[in-house]
Amino acid sequence: MTLLEVDRLTVRFRGLTAVDGVSLAVAEGEFVAIIGPNGAGKTTLFNVIAGSLRPSAGEIRFAGRPVAGLGAARMSQLGVGRTFQVARPFGSLTVRENVRLAAGRHYLANPLAAWGRRGRDREVEARVAHLLAVTGLVGLADRRAADLNMGGLRRLEIARALALEPRLLLLDEPAAGLGVDGIRPLAELIRSLRSQHLTVLLVEHHVGFALSLCDRVVVLDQGKKIFEGTPEAVRRDERVITAYLGESGAGEGAMSGGD
Ligand SMILES: Nc1ncnc2c1ncn2[C@@H]1O[C@H](COP(=O)(O)OP(=O)(O)OP(=O)(O)O)[C@@H](O)[C@H]1O
Ligand SMILES: [Mg+2]
Repeated sequence: MTLLEVDRLTVRFRGLTAVDGVSLAVAEGEFVAIIGPNGAGKTTLFNVIAGSLRPSAGEIRFAGRPVAGLGAARMSQLGVGRTFQVARPFGSLTVRENVRLAAGRHYLANPLAAWGRRGRDREVEARVAHLLAVTGLVGLADRRAADLNMGGLRRLEIARALALEPRLLLLDEPAAGLGVDGIRPLAELIRSLRSQHLTVLLVEHHVGFALSLCDRVVVLDQGKKIFEGTPEAVRRDERVITAYLGESGAGEGAMSGGD
């Protein structure tokens, strides 16, 4: 089943066309990477899918229904979760409190929650414990979010998104700012999400990392989709190589690097 359908989507900011007629479909359970140079329109595309930005033209369907312009709160209720390129936790709260806040909000918003207050608190605590375990944050649970290193922040960002029990998870550059030591466990964590029947869209500058995780790759350049195919095919595509390497040949490692 197709979970997400983006149809000829365009986003203009005054004179600039940030996303230019992009179409793509993501099946339930699929893992799709979106790569492309700086300013290609990757985050803008995420913002539209997550509901925080209204497209200038085009349509988005989620689980078969048109959703463009519904707003971020509604999209999150419908099952679209996201992480941000710049992590946004509450710095003065602990890791556990941050995750609890996200999980608690989700349970409050759930109209089917028939249990009483005490039952709900127990449900939330169980959920928080599970999320901390899944994201490898148990040892950091009582640390203030502001004191986390980049790897911890990225994990917390993922835990908070998972707290909303999304069907579709949008990850915007989860590996940004991480060294090899941080990237390897993050890859493990992201891989483990697959076994939870999540559908994942991953935006990433670490191309080797993204290609090692995904089923399919979409390449954006200056707002346009210039390639779509398997991770193997993308490494050989001339347009992609040109978009990444430019005239100089700089950045060769970006296409070949592993995680
Ligand atoms: N709110 C905005 N107002 C005006 N221009 C914007 C806005 N948001 C993004 N842009 C512009 O739209 C283009 C696409 O930006 P976007 O952030 O989507 O790129 P990106 O592919 O995520 O880049 P990066 O890899 O650097 O994160 C850029 O030229 C950017 O400057
Ligand atoms: Mg971006």
